[in-house]
Amino acid sequence: MHKTINPKIFYFGTPVVLISTTNEDRTINLAPISSAWWMNQSCMIGMSGQSQTVINLLREGECTLNLPSANLVEEVDRLALLTGRNPVPEYKREIGYQYEQNKFSRAGLTSIHATNVGPPLVKECPIQLEAVVQKEYDFDEPSAIKAFEMKIVTTHIDEKILLENGKDYIDPEKWKPLMMNFCEFFSFGPKLYPSKLAEPFTSRYYAN
Ligand SMILES: Cc1cc2nc3c(=O)[nH]c(=O)nc-3n(C[C@H](O)[C@H](O)[C@H](O)COP(=O)(O)O)c2cc1C
Repeated sequence: MHKTINPKIFYFGTPVVLISTTNEDRTINLAPISSAWWMNQSCMIGMSGQSQTVINLLREGECTLNLPSANLVEEVDRLALLTGRNPVPEYKREIGYQYEQNKFSRAGLTSIHATNVGPPLVKECPIQLEAVVQKEYDFDEPSAIKAFEMKIVTTHIDEKILLENGKDYIDPEKWKPLMMNFCEFFSFGPKLYPSKLAEPFTSRYYAN
């Protein structure tokens, strides 16, 4: 039996991304998000228009997108209920959010220089992407959500998660993303079944 319900969220499970942006005073902000999806050399992200990250993206037009592996779950959780926005928006203050100026240090993460954008990379993340805003959209629903189409301009990948044949391809057996599933942290289990879609990619394009 299915029941017809009105859930408040549809967070069915997506990888966590740590997004680093530059504040107006040139200090750095870092925020966890999970509303992100990927196409070719681009991605779309969705964020509350009340976040410091959105304010920074609208002004600067660039960021880094850092994907933590599952072993960074404690560092990521330390960033929950923090904002780089001062004063803290009323609706966030009511649910316990606090202002934090130095989120890298609060999380126990290390910032390192990016190559082609101002905001830094997160050293501990095995996937580090430098990205520029291509387009910005307002959601129609009355919730002040902004969506950004980002072009990925530079990609840094920890060699430990690459295929061993030297080709530019992430080995999905080695990459263990930290996933957010209905506001709780999860990761992937082992591969379930050989995929027909993966076959042409790994054998035709990335084989020795
Ligand atoms: C794991 C995780 C995932 C999150 N995903 C999103 C998201 O996709 N979009 C969003 O607006 N907020 C998301 N949040 C909440 C933001 O991190 C929060 O709004 C934060 O205050 C933003 O920081 P900022 O105001 O400094 O930009 C998430 C929080 C956590 C801990």
